[in-house]
Amino acid sequence: MVNGQRFPRDEWTNVTPTVLSKINRKLHLQPQNPISIIRQLIESNFQDFQKFNNHSPIVTTKQNFDDLFIPKDHPSRTKSDNYYFNKDVVLRAHTSAHQIQGLMSGSRKFLVSGDVYRRDEIDASHYPVFHQIEGVFYTDNDIQQLGTELKQLQEDKKTTNIQLVDDTVIKPENPYQTCHQPEAVDLIATHLKHSINSMIRNIFADEPNLKVRWIDAYFPFTSPSWEVEIEYKGEWLEVLGCGVVNQKIMNQAHLDDKIGWAFGMGLERLAMVLFGIPDIRLFWTEDERFINQFEPGKINKFMPFSKYPPCIKDISFWISENKWHENDFCELVRGVAGDLVETVELIDDFTHPKTNRRSLCYRINYRSMDRNVTNEEINIIQENVRNTVRDEFNVELR
Ligand code: DAH
Repeated sequence: MVNGQRFPRDEWTNVTPTVLSKINRKLHLQPQNPISIIRQLIESNFQDFQKFNNHSPIVTTKQNFDDLFIPKDHPSRTKSDNYYFNKDVVLRAHTSAHQIQGLMSGSRKFLVSGDVYRRDEIDASHYPVFHQIEGVFYTDNDIQQLGTELKQLQEDKKTTNIQLVDDTVIKPENPYQTCHQPEAVDLIATHLKHSINSMIRNIFADEPNLKVRWIDAYFPFTSPSWEVEIEYKGEWLEVLGCGVVNQKIMNQAHLDDKIGWAFGMGLERLAMVLFGIPDIRLFWTEDERFINQFEPGKINKFMPFSKYPPCIKDISFWISENKWHENDFCELVRGVAGDLVETVELIDDFTHPKTNRRSLCYRINYRSMDRNVTNEEINIIQENVRNTVRDEFNVELR
């Protein structure tokens, strides 16, 4: 049973409990998660697009492959690349699995985001689950209408300060579809490229000189097709795939007289470079020290935290008179313990009803960034902290 559904096993079944444990996490919908912050940043470039963010990742092989005209013998269908429930049901490998659904929804412009699943190598930038966002736009297949839409877009959206490298031309290796008029494709392709370039400009708002490179690509569901790469801090990143939607897909959705574009992009890699997150597994950690660093709508640099266990010690004392400066105390602890102190937190503040003396209790969290600390060594430091507080702040230790 998975999310209330039962899937008969067969020789295709290869989903694992580990991968199934991820399907309800929905990182792209957790407001503080960088994956969700990036999703919203992308969405903000497509204000008038309908947003589908809650489609189940459990899809049919028809949705994931057949509807997109991915050939029966295509390597991307193999058991070694995908998580199958059985021969007909799979964890989606891309958000493109929802293209037909979106096209049939009656919406002329839409985005689909979600978790996608691929069996892959394991390293700091690969994880069996990642997130994508898909964008689809279509309009009447009519030169005049296409021209109007393009003009409107170019007035609304700017692509200034981009160093654009685009020497792609539509040619037989990356062709027009025979059913299309070249003029119409040129217009929809320009519309696509302008939409993408302006989105990228906004995502990398802080980069004064952004290099964006368009290269020819191939996807069964688009023609012509392109990939877009960005130069960020000296490295070329592949950010998305896109193209003019295969007309057979439009026709399947009963949109024979329309022409459209689509793109699909991964969110992890963008989030990793923009937030400076070094390891893809961090997006999945339930450690509050990760998630609490982020807030919706904001891109800030990730501060690494230790993967070693803490050693917690409390200290309490009666203070003399009523003057107490917490910052001075923190400074003192840092002076004694150095970088081994992670947090200092007041956990009790008590005034004796009879004597009127005030007692404070602080919890000191010791932890190293690069090794396990022993209780013995921390005891020595803690003793040192106690003695120094007593001597310098004139308190009575409890
Ligand atoms: N689905 C493709 C992938 O996961 C990305 C993609 C390419 C999506 C081209 C599209 C598209 O919508 O038009 O690699």
